[in-house]
Amino acid sequence: MKTKIFCDIAELDKIRRFNKKKIVKGFTTNPSLMRKAGAKDYKSYSQKILKICKNKPVSLEVFADEYNEMKIQALKINTWAKNVYVKVPVVNSKGKFMGKIIRELNNQKIKLNITAVYTAMQTQKILKVIDKKTKVIISIFAGRAGDAGKDPVPEFIKSISLAKRFKNVEILWASVREPYNYLQAKQLGCHVITVPPSTIEKIEKFGETFDMLTVGTVKNFLIDSKKSKFKI
Ligand code: G3P
Repeated sequence: MKTKIFCDIAELDKIRRFNKKKIVKGFTTNPSLMRKAGAKDYKSYSQKILKICKNKPVSLEVFADEYNEMKIQALKINTWAKNVYVKVPVVNSKGKFMGKIIRELNNQKIKLNITAVYTAMQTQKILKVIDKKTKVIISIFAGRAGDAGKDPVPEFIKSISLAKRFKNVEILWASVREPYNYLQAKQLGCHVITVPPSTIEKIEKFGETFDMLTVGTVKNFLIDSKKSKFKI
């Protein structure tokens, strides 16, 4: 089973660079990444991303918190390009399940990336409101679960098993905290993993033996001690 790498990013220069990489099969963003990248106008900034990346899936998120506004945003975002996945949170900021909107958008054949998912129970609820044709990515927030001292792996095992009957559904590991998470996601059978640019560069270098690593490690310590002119 191949786990696709999507680059989690919003900086335009990096998107330009990473779009050229074969290992990168798509892009995801979120409002926090956009803000960090200095985006001022959400629409024009998103369109700049889409101008750079025309042939790989790009997930762009709604940021409204109420049904009507969220639906308007989702419908608009969907018209921006063919390769867009509209990213919709599984719940709004009040914790209300966004099932109605997920169902309606999925009914209209809009490709979705359901975000901020943490549990297999949420995966189950999502699967109940979608069809078996239109593409849906379910982003399980492994990184933030781990940050909070929670093990996301059992949630992946259950979610992947639940989604097996849905050929249109992909389970996404969001997002790595260390390069090794890529191998974990592969072993679990995740369809996609989101990875920031610096970690993609580390994954590209996978393959060193333990012997190579041990020598490299000692070399680095030696270089630094020389640079600092340490003496005892
Ligand atoms: O694509 C998911 C990602 O945006 C969340 O990652 O690293 O902010 O938890 P992170």
